[in-house]
Amino acid sequence: VVQELSFVLVQLPSVVAHRGASTDRPEHTIGAYELALKEGADGLECDIRLSRDGEIVCVHDRTLTRTSNGRGTVSALTLSDLQKYDYGSWHRHGQPAELLVLDQLLELVKGKNVQLFVETKHPVRYRNEVERKLVETLKKHDLDAQIVMMSFSPTAVKAFREQAPDIRTVLLLDRLGRYRSGVLPSFADYTGPGVHVLRNDPEYVERARRAGHETYVWTVDSPEDVALCRDLGVRYLATNAPANTRRLLTAN
Ligand code: G3P
Ligand code: CA
Repeated sequence: VVQELSFVLVQLPSVVAHRGASTDRPEHTIGAYELALKEGADGLECDIRLSRDGEIVCVHDRTLTRTSNGRGTVSALTLSDLQKYDYGSWHRHGQPAELLVLDQLLELVKGKNVQLFVETKHPVRYRNEVERKLVETLKKHDLDAQIVMMSFSPTAVKAFREQAPDIRTVLLLDRLGRYRSGVLPSFADYTGPGVHVLRNDPEYVERARRAGHETYVWTVDSPEDVALCRDLGVRYLATNAPANTRRLLTAN
């Protein structure tokens, strides 16, 4: 009896640790990223801003209030001001932790099989200065193949692409708006919708694929959202809980 076996090759989404393993560790601390690596994340995500003296620091919010014991606006403080505060104790599993600067994260990924997704955030006072500084910093590290630049601002992605044509980019989308068809400007490699976008319009992933763009989706933690992304064949999935999300992806 000859039994015919048919194999379906399913490519699971790569798991990207959003702000590190940020459910279990304070976001944007070295401990959050080390845990993500230990949990086998394929990628790490971080947000960057400029300090008043032009240093690239990894902080999501415009101000320090939520994620440190400091006060004030990141871009109004110098690196040494920012370094005075504790970025870990606010978290329920937190211990005192130092401010993370991008250079440290670049050193962490160096030589490892992991991608780093760097999202530029935009204090109004710096017009694409953060992208310029990012390019300058990346040049020192020679990690281009591991880096993916991201932003919600098409202007920022365009400015980055002009300076670093070999580094991949994601245009993040909170809503599809003018990109509903799936076609993106040529300076964006991947499309980056929030998972809320796909819940309403799951066919978007296929439209984007036909237009030549694989999808990076944020932020995907619930079993329903993980299953949705897997079933739609998204390429990258950003999650706050990489180990749990991997488990969900590989369960049956
Ligand atoms: O990974 C993209 C996602 O991080 C965008 O939203 O606010 O978490 O930076 P936010
Ligand atoms: Ca982000």
